[in-house]
Amino acid sequence: MHDLNGRTAVITGAASGIGLALAHRLGAAGMNLVLGDVEHAPLEAAARALADAGRPVATQQLDVRDLDQIRAFEGLARERFGNVHLLCNNAGVGGGGPVADPDDLELWRWTIDVNLWGVIYGCKVFLPAMLEHGEPAHVVNTASMAGLASAPMMGPYNVSKYGVVALSETLAKEMQLAESAVGVSVLCPAFVQTGIASSHRNLPAELRVELPDPTAFPGDGMQTVIEALVAGGLPSAVVADAVHDAIVENRFWILTHEETKPGILARAEQIVNGVNPAPLGLHDAP
Ligand SMILES: NC(=O)c1ccc[n+]([C@@H]2O[C@H](COP(=O)([O-])OP(=O)(O)OC[C@H]3O[C@@H](n4cnc5c(N)ncnc54)[C@H](O)[C@@H]3O)[C@@H](O)[C@H]2O)c1
Repeated sequence: MHDLNGRTAVITGAASGIGLALAHRLGAAGMNLVLGDVEHAPLEAAARALADAGRPVATQQLDVRDLDQIRAFEGLARERFGNVHLLCNNAGVGGGGPVADPDDLELWRWTIDVNLWGVIYGCKVFLPAMLEHGEPAHVVNTASMAGLASAPMMGPYNVSKYGVVALSETLAKEMQLAESAVGVSVLCPAFVQTGIASSHRNLPAELRVELPDPTAFPGDGMQTVIEALVAGGLPSAVVADAVHDAIVENRFWILTHEETKPGILARAEQIVNGVNPAPLGLHDAP
């Protein structure tokens, strides 16, 4: 999609971090913005700032785990701005813990519901009309390096992000087979300076009750490590620039961290050579 000006972008998880940076970048490119997030007050604050900068904005408090809410979100976009041209399935939460822990099933379900089912629902709800209207369009799914490399202690996050990469590659091939005007990109960053390290703020109340110490999620030692890595990550505006360029140039893979590429190649070589996985550190595979 070469020309973004005057077209309409839908962004989930738009109140913070990468989603918020995307809203500012795409707004600056002249797009109408339809923003959804589970956090109401930050979403409205983001919308006010964008509106003050002259961006046309619509918002909806939205839990991407809920199909009906995503359907309503699609209705809002159509009602306010007509055809949707860009879908950014971006909302996500960090979640971790050892695979062998028998007591964290609800956390696995929550992470996969938000990170993977949220993206599946977004595609299911928005794509039919995007195909139907036939104008240039694009889907950006936010995965992670965790969708290409499996760091230990990040099981539910890794599973969800591998799913997003698989879904996106499948969709890209299907859009080409259909000779549609819909391009597809998958965003696979390593660490970015956002609110991801405090994802537990959005734990649903029923899960929060079951946790003896919610601040300990996803694990005492790991929490500290993750916070430091996120704080030292790329600025979210840099990632938003990379996403903008990939949309305009119709590039599928958006790998924002050069230093992660050798690890991806090494893993591919391990696969084809039948080499067993080694326990990578978090620095190698965020
Ligand atoms: N920050 C990183 O280091 C990093 C690296 C790789 C991938 N990512 C991915 O980037 C995406 C954006 O995360 P971020 O880093 O900007 O974190 P963030 O916490 O700053 O932003 C995530 C946003 O998603 C929203 N959200 C959470 N659950 C939701 C739900 N159920 N429904 C709707 N909105 C919900 C949050 O309220 C928040 O505004 C996520 O998919 C994340 O997995 C982040």
